[in-house]
Parts: sequence; structure tokens; C-alpha cells
Amino acid sequence: MNELDTLVESARQSFAQALTPADLENAKALFLGKSGRLTELMKGMAALSVEGKKTRGAAINSAKQAIEAALNESRQALADAELQAQLKAEALDVTLPGRSANAGGGLHPVSLTLERVEQIFGSMGFEVAQGPEIETDWFNFTALNTPEDHPARSMHDTFYVEGGHLLRTHTSPMQIRHAVQHVKRYKNQLDAGQGMPEIRVIAPGRTYRVDSDATHSPMFHQCEGLWIGENVSFKDLKVVVTDFCRTFFESDDLILRFRPSFFPFTEPSAEIDIQFQSGPLAGRWLEVGGSGQVHPSVVRNMGLDPEHFIGFAFGMGMDRFTMLRYGVNDLRLFFDGDVRFLSQFQ
Ligand code: PHE
Repeated sequence: MNELDTLVESARQSFAQALTPADLENAKALFLGKSGRLTELMKGMAALSVEGKKTRGAAINSAKQAIEAALNESRQALADAELQAQLKAEALDVTLPGRSANAGGGLHPVSLTLERVEQIFGSMGFEVAQGPEIETDWFNFTALNTPEDHPARSMHDTFYVEGGHLLRTHTSPMQIRHAVQHVKRYKNQLDAGQGMPEIRVIAPGRTYRVDSDATHSPMFHQCEGLWIGENVSFKDLKVVVTDFCRTFFESDDLILRFRPSFFPFTEPSAEIDIQFQSGPLAGRWLEVGGSGQVHPSVVRNMGLDPEHFIGFAFGMGMDRFTMLRYGVNDLRLFFDGDVRFLSQFQ
């Protein structure tokens, strides 16, 4: 191997050993740079004859071309290696399961309860009524036989809004609103002494009171129930509410207690307590609502004659039902809007 071949070979080797583009540029300078080996050889030609310059020049030139070719090859090899490394680092496993499978959202636990309650009472022949959350004093209190000086009317318990209206403190105003509509619809029939189809309705929705702790929220949910006919008794109330609770909690192992109480709009009145006979809550009486036989004055405010029409009403706490069903111990969790809590109900 002559001197030029050796030079080309050693250039090729040092180019091949370069691990980075910077290494390669350094190696290039050693051979092709201003004071590189090839430049040195060309300088050495000055002493040669014209003929000598010609052959030596051609030989050096082809060595230079060979070195440049080797340089380009190594540049390409480094670029390829870099691309491969990048592809490997950013590799995407298209066989992995997607991450968005559960991003669809879902109903709030209290909404799930309301849907369930509507479905159960619907199967018992109750229709569903809705009404305003901003109420008048008449529907929320007066028509429900609540005396002027009743404590619930005080600023302490009731949110009053401008114009003398208030945020309904219970769903009971829907008893009057719905009954009045019903009576209007069957007015001709009633006037002709032919009676009317029974009123059988539930009214779920938001209610408001000035109250806030682990078991009370200023906004909460109730479901009102009303059944008015010519021969509806307290016994029917017990059957309906007992059937409902056992269906809702999917347990026949559940007993109910109607504990004597007082509401201005019912007489007699009773708190509804339930007790599970098994499971984590077994043996404790849990209050879930109020109930009673609709007071004659309220029946009159519905536009009906209390001598002919009688019935019962109840109001149950939907947040309470939701907490009991899912074992939630702090009511405020429902209204914090934390997805870690809410996503557990999907
Ligand atoms: N409205 C009552 C309350 O909010 C509950 C109730 C409804 C009681 C219907 C009797 C009849 O506490």
C-alpha cells in the first residue's frame, strides 16, 4: 500500500470511529483542514517538476475524493443512527389499550337516586310533577296551614329573595300546585258530582334552608308524595312507603316505624324511620322523612271538600337516601364536585 492509500485508509477509520457529528468534524479537520494531512502533502508538491506535479497532483486529488466520499458515508451513517435512536425513543405501542375509555362522564349520585325514585313510584302509578324553586309565601307556608308565627318562616331558616319571594324550604308546595291543576282539569266532572280520578303524584327536586354541616346543606333534595282520593287511608301510606323503601334499598330485611310527630299540613303526622336488619347499618333507626294525613285546611286549599276527599302526603330526603344506599357519610361530598368522588358512581 502506498502512502496515499494508507492515508485514505486511516481517514476512513477515524471517520468510522466518530460517535457524534462533532467527532466527525474534528476528524475531517485532521485530514482535509487547512493544516490537515492532505494539505501538507499538497504543499510538499512545490519542489516537484511539472511532470511530477501532474502525476502527484492527480494521485493526491483522487485520494482527496476518496477521503471526501468516506466522510460523506460516515455523515450519512451518523444521521441514520441518530434517526433510528429517535424513532426508538419515541416508539408508540399501538397495541396498548386507550386511555380515554372512561372519559364519558355520568350522572350525579343524587340524580341516580331521583331517577330510581321516579321509576319505582312510576311503577306504583304515581306521576311526576315539577315546580318552581323560587316560591311564594302562599304555596310554601300559608296554603300548607303554616301559621304566621311558625319558626320555619323566620329569616333564620328560610332564604328570602327580593320581592317577598323565597327559596322553597321543602317540596310540599307542590302538593298544592299539583292538586289545584288536577282539580281544575276535572272541574266539570266534580261540579256534576261525578268525582275525579285520584291524585297520585311525586314531586322530586331541590329545596333550600339556612343550614350547613356534615348532614345539612343549604341546598338539598326532597321528594314529595301525595295521594288524594275518596277512600285513601293512613294504612295506604304505610304500604306505599314501605314498598318503596324495600324496593329502593333492594332489601326485604328492612323495617319501618311511623313515629308520631307534628307538621302544620298533616294531621296526624309521623316521622318515617327505617331500620336495616342486616349489613353495616343494622339495628339503628334512621330518619328518612316526614308524612301524615293531609290536613282538612290543606285539602280545602287544593279546591276540594275535606268531607269527601282525604289522603296522605310524605316528604323524603333524597340526599339521605343516596348516602344510605352508597354508604357515604358526609353530605358535602355530593356538592364539592370532586371527580375522584363522583367517578365512583359511574
Ligand atoms: N315538608 C316536610 C319537611 O320538609 C315533610 C313532610 C312532607 C311532612 C309531607 C308531611 C307531609 O320536613
